[in-house]
Amino acid sequence: AASLVIAIDGPAASGKGTLARRLADYYHLPHLDTGLTYRAVAHMLLTKGWPLGDAPHAVEAARLVDLGSLDRDVLSVHAVGEAASKIAVIPEVRRILVDKQRAFAAQVSGAVLDGRDIGTVVCPDATVKLYVTASAEVRARRRLAEIEARDGTGDFATILADIARRDERDMGRADSPLRPAADAHLLDTSEMDIETAFIAARTIIDGIV
Ligand code: C5P
Repeated sequence: AASLVIAIDGPAASGKGTLARRLADYYHLPHLDTGLTYRAVAHMLLTKGWPLGDAPHAVEAARLVDLGSLDRDVLSVHAVGEAASKIAVIPEVRRILVDKQRAFAAQVSGAVLDGRDIGTVVCPDATVKLYVTASAEVRARRRLAEIEARDGTGDFATILADIARRDERDMGRADSPLRPAADAHLLDTSEMDIETAFIAARTIIDGIV
Protein backbone atom coordinates (compact mmCIF):
# COMPACT_ATOMS: atom_id res chain seq x y z
CA ALA A 1 0.00 0.00 0.00
CA ALA A 2 1.06 3.59 -0.58
CA SER A 3 2.23 5.48 2.47
CA LEU A 4 -0.46 7.37 4.35
CA VAL A 5 0.53 10.58 6.12
CA ILE A 6 -2.17 12.10 8.31
CA ALA A 7 -1.45 15.66 9.51
CA ILE A 8 -3.52 16.90 12.43
CA ASP A 9 -3.37 20.46 13.72
CA GLY A 10 -5.39 22.42 16.22
CA PRO A 11 -5.28 24.51 19.38
CA ALA A 12 -4.63 23.27 22.92
CA ALA A 13 -7.29 20.88 24.30
CA SER A 14 -9.10 20.58 20.97
CA GLY A 15 -9.09 16.79 21.20
CA LYS A 16 -6.51 16.41 18.40
CA GLY A 17 -4.20 14.26 20.52
CA THR A 18 -6.82 11.67 21.40
CA LEU A 19 -8.03 11.69 17.81
CA ALA A 20 -4.48 11.23 16.49
CA ARG A 21 -3.90 8.22 18.77
CA ARG A 22 -7.20 6.60 17.73
CA LEU A 23 -6.49 7.14 14.02
CA ALA A 24 -2.92 5.81 14.30
CA ASP A 25 -4.26 2.71 15.99
CA TYR A 26 -7.03 2.23 13.42
CA TYR A 27 -4.82 2.71 10.33
CA HIS A 28 -1.84 0.87 11.93
CA LEU A 29 0.47 3.86 11.64
CA PRO A 30 3.21 5.18 13.91
CA HIS A 31 2.16 8.33 15.77
CA LEU A 32 4.14 11.38 16.84
CA ASP A 33 2.70 14.03 19.16
CA THR A 34 4.99 16.87 18.05
CA GLY A 35 4.00 18.95 21.09
CA LEU A 36 6.12 16.53 23.11
CA THR A 37 9.23 17.59 21.18
CA TYR A 38 8.70 21.26 22.15
CA ARG A 39 7.87 20.13 25.69
CA ALA A 40 11.10 18.09 25.83
CA VAL A 41 13.12 21.23 25.02
CA ALA A 42 11.26 23.24 27.66
CA HIS A 43 11.65 20.47 30.22
CA MET A 44 15.39 20.30 29.66
CA LEU A 45 15.73 24.08 30.17
CA LEU A 46 13.56 24.04 33.30
CA THR A 47 15.49 21.10 34.74
CA LYS A 48 18.87 22.69 34.15
CA GLY A 49 17.66 26.08 35.36
CA TRP A 50 18.45 27.72 32.00
CA PRO A 51 16.32 30.78 31.13
CA LEU A 52 13.57 30.09 28.57
CA GLY A 53 14.44 33.17 26.54
CA ASP A 54 18.03 32.05 26.02
CA ALA A 55 18.08 30.89 22.38
CA PRO A 56 21.55 29.22 22.34
CA HIS A 57 20.62 26.94 25.24
CA ALA A 58 17.22 26.16 23.71
CA VAL A 59 18.92 25.29 20.42
CA GLU A 60 21.35 22.99 22.26
CA ALA A 61 18.39 21.32 24.01
CA ALA A 62 16.53 20.91 20.69
CA ARG A 63 19.55 19.09 19.19
CA LEU A 64 19.47 16.65 22.11
CA VAL A 65 15.78 15.74 21.68
CA ASP A 66 15.41 12.04 20.91
CA LEU A 67 12.03 11.02 19.47
CA GLY A 68 12.51 7.53 20.88
CA SER A 69 12.62 8.64 24.50
CA LEU A 70 9.87 11.24 24.94
CA ASP A 71 8.29 10.62 28.34
CA ARG A 72 4.64 11.68 28.15
CA ASP A 73 4.13 11.50 31.94
CA VAL A 74 7.02 13.82 32.71
CA LEU A 75 6.23 16.19 29.83
CA SER A 76 2.48 16.56 30.26
CA VAL A 77 2.61 18.80 33.36
CA HIS A 78 1.06 22.21 32.86
CA ALA A 79 4.19 24.31 33.49
CA VAL A 80 6.08 22.40 30.80
CA GLY A 81 3.33 23.15 28.24
CA GLU A 82 3.45 26.84 29.12
CA ALA A 83 7.23 26.90 28.79
CA ALA A 84 7.02 24.92 25.52
CA SER A 85 4.88 27.61 23.89
CA LYS A 86 7.56 30.17 24.84
CA ILE A 87 10.54 28.34 23.33
CA ALA A 88 8.39 27.40 20.29
CA VAL A 89 8.77 30.95 18.97
CA ILE A 90 12.53 30.49 18.41
CA PRO A 91 13.02 29.78 14.66
CA GLU A 92 16.25 27.77 15.06
CA VAL A 93 14.58 25.52 17.65
CA ARG A 94 11.68 24.94 15.26
CA ARG A 95 14.03 24.17 12.35
CA ILE A 96 15.84 21.48 14.36
CA LEU A 97 12.63 19.87 15.67
CA VAL A 98 10.88 20.04 12.28
CA ASP A 99 13.79 18.10 10.72
CA LYS A 100 13.29 15.32 13.27
CA GLN A 101 9.51 15.36 12.76
CA ARG A 102 9.92 15.10 8.97
CA ALA A 103 12.22 12.11 9.36
CA PHE A 104 9.48 10.45 11.44
CA ALA A 105 6.84 11.23 8.79
CA ALA A 106 9.04 9.70 6.06
CA GLN A 107 8.64 6.10 7.32
CA VAL A 108 7.50 3.75 4.54
CA SER A 109 4.12 3.07 6.16
CA GLY A 110 3.43 6.76 6.56
CA ALA A 111 2.53 8.22 9.96
CA VAL A 112 0.13 10.30 11.99
CA LEU A 113 1.58 13.57 13.31
CA ASP A 114 -0.29 16.09 15.42
CA GLY A 115 0.70 19.59 16.42
CA ARG A 116 0.28 23.20 15.29
CA ASP A 117 2.13 23.39 11.96
CA ILE A 118 2.01 19.86 10.54
CA GLY A 119 -0.18 20.62 7.52
CA THR A 120 1.42 24.00 6.87
CA VAL A 121 5.15 23.38 7.50
CA VAL A 122 6.18 19.87 8.60
CA CYS A 123 4.20 17.81 6.07
CA PRO A 124 2.82 20.16 3.39
CA ASP A 125 2.34 17.11 1.12
CA ALA A 126 0.46 15.00 3.69
CA THR A 127 -2.15 12.64 2.25
CA VAL A 128 -4.83 14.07 4.55
CA LYS A 129 -4.85 17.23 6.66
CA LEU A 130 -7.27 17.75 9.51
CA TYR A 131 -7.71 20.97 11.46
CA VAL A 132 -9.41 20.13 14.73
CA THR A 133 -11.06 22.94 16.68
CA ALA A 134 -13.60 23.54 19.41
CA SER A 135 -14.69 26.74 21.09
CA ALA A 136 -12.42 27.99 23.90
CA GLU A 137 -15.25 27.40 26.41
CA VAL A 138 -15.70 23.78 25.35
CA ARG A 139 -11.93 23.19 25.44
CA ALA A 140 -11.70 24.73 28.91
CA ARG A 141 -14.58 22.57 30.13
CA ARG A 142 -12.85 19.42 28.82
CA ARG A 143 -9.54 20.42 30.39
CA LEU A 144 -11.33 21.12 33.68
CA ALA A 145 -12.93 17.65 33.62
CA GLU A 146 -9.47 16.10 33.05
CA ILE A 147 -7.94 18.08 35.92
CA GLU A 148 -10.84 17.30 38.25
CA ALA A 149 -10.56 13.60 37.47
CA ARG A 150 -6.87 13.76 38.39
CA ASP A 151 -6.71 16.30 41.24
CA GLY A 152 -10.31 16.51 42.41
CA THR A 153 -10.51 20.26 41.84
CA GLY A 154 -9.84 22.96 39.26
CA ASP A 155 -10.89 26.49 38.38
CA PHE A 156 -12.77 27.08 35.11
CA ALA A 157 -11.89 30.80 34.79
CA THR A 158 -8.16 30.13 35.26
CA ILE A 159 -8.19 27.30 32.73
CA LEU A 160 -10.11 29.39 30.19
CA ALA A 161 -7.63 32.26 30.61
CA ASP A 162 -4.69 29.82 30.15
CA ILE A 163 -6.24 28.47 26.96
CA ALA A 164 -6.89 31.95 25.57
CA ARG A 165 -3.29 32.98 26.30
CA ARG A 166 -1.89 29.82 24.69
CA ASP A 167 -4.08 30.35 21.58
CA GLU A 168 -2.84 33.92 21.28
CA ARG A 169 0.80 32.87 21.54
CA ASP A 170 0.45 29.96 19.09
CA MET A 171 -1.63 31.86 16.51
CA GLY A 172 0.21 35.16 16.89
CA ARG A 173 3.85 34.12 16.48
CA ALA A 174 5.76 35.07 13.33
CA ASP A 175 7.31 31.63 12.61
CA SER A 176 4.80 28.87 11.77
CA PRO A 177 1.71 30.29 13.49
CA LEU A 178 -1.18 27.93 14.16
CA ARG A 179 -3.61 28.15 11.23
CA PRO A 180 -5.41 25.68 8.97
CA ALA A 181 -3.57 24.74 5.76
CA ALA A 182 -5.48 25.82 2.65
CA ASP A 183 -6.29 22.17 1.89
CA ALA A 184 -7.11 21.12 5.48
CA HIS A 185 -10.46 19.59 6.38
CA LEU A 186 -12.00 21.42 9.31
CA LEU A 187 -13.37 19.37 12.16
CA ASP A 188 -15.18 21.40 14.81
CA THR A 189 -15.64 19.06 17.77
CA SER A 190 -17.51 21.58 19.98
CA GLU A 191 -20.63 19.45 19.80
CA MET A 192 -18.97 16.05 19.28
CA ASP A 193 -17.77 13.41 21.69
CA ILE A 194 -14.53 11.59 20.83
CA GLU A 195 -16.32 8.67 19.13
CA THR A 196 -18.26 11.03 16.85
CA ALA A 197 -15.10 12.98 16.03
CA PHE A 198 -13.25 9.71 15.28
CA ILE A 199 -15.99 8.58 12.86
CA ALA A 200 -16.07 12.02 11.18
CA ALA A 201 -12.28 11.92 10.72
CA ARG A 202 -12.38 8.39 9.26
CA THR A 203 -15.09 9.46 6.84
CA ILE A 204 -12.86 12.30 5.61
CA ILE A 205 -9.76 10.07 5.37
CA ASP A 206 -11.53 7.15 3.66
CA GLY A 207 -12.97 9.62 1.16
CA ILE A 208 -9.43 10.59 0.12
CA VAL A 209 -7.38 7.38 0.19
O1 C5P B 1 0.24 20.34 21.99
P1 C5P B 1 1.02 20.71 23.21
O2 C5P B 1 0.22 21.42 24.25
O3 C5P B 1 1.78 19.57 23.78
O4 C5P B 1 2.12 21.75 22.69
C1 C5P B 1 2.87 22.55 23.57
C2 C5P B 1 3.32 23.80 22.83
O5 C5P B 1 4.30 23.45 21.85
C3 C5P B 1 2.21 24.50 22.05
O6 C5P B 1 1.49 25.44 22.83
C4 C5P B 1 2.98 25.18 20.93
O7 C5P B 1 3.46 26.45 21.32
C5 C5P B 1 4.16 24.28 20.71
N1 C5P B 1 4.01 23.45 19.51
C6 C5P B 1 4.36 24.03 18.30
N2 C5P B 1 4.30 23.31 17.16
C7 C5P B 1 3.89 22.03 17.18
C8 C5P B 1 3.49 21.43 18.39
C9 C5P B 1 3.56 22.19 19.55
O8 C5P B 1 4.72 25.20 18.25
N3 C5P B 1 3.87 21.34 16.03
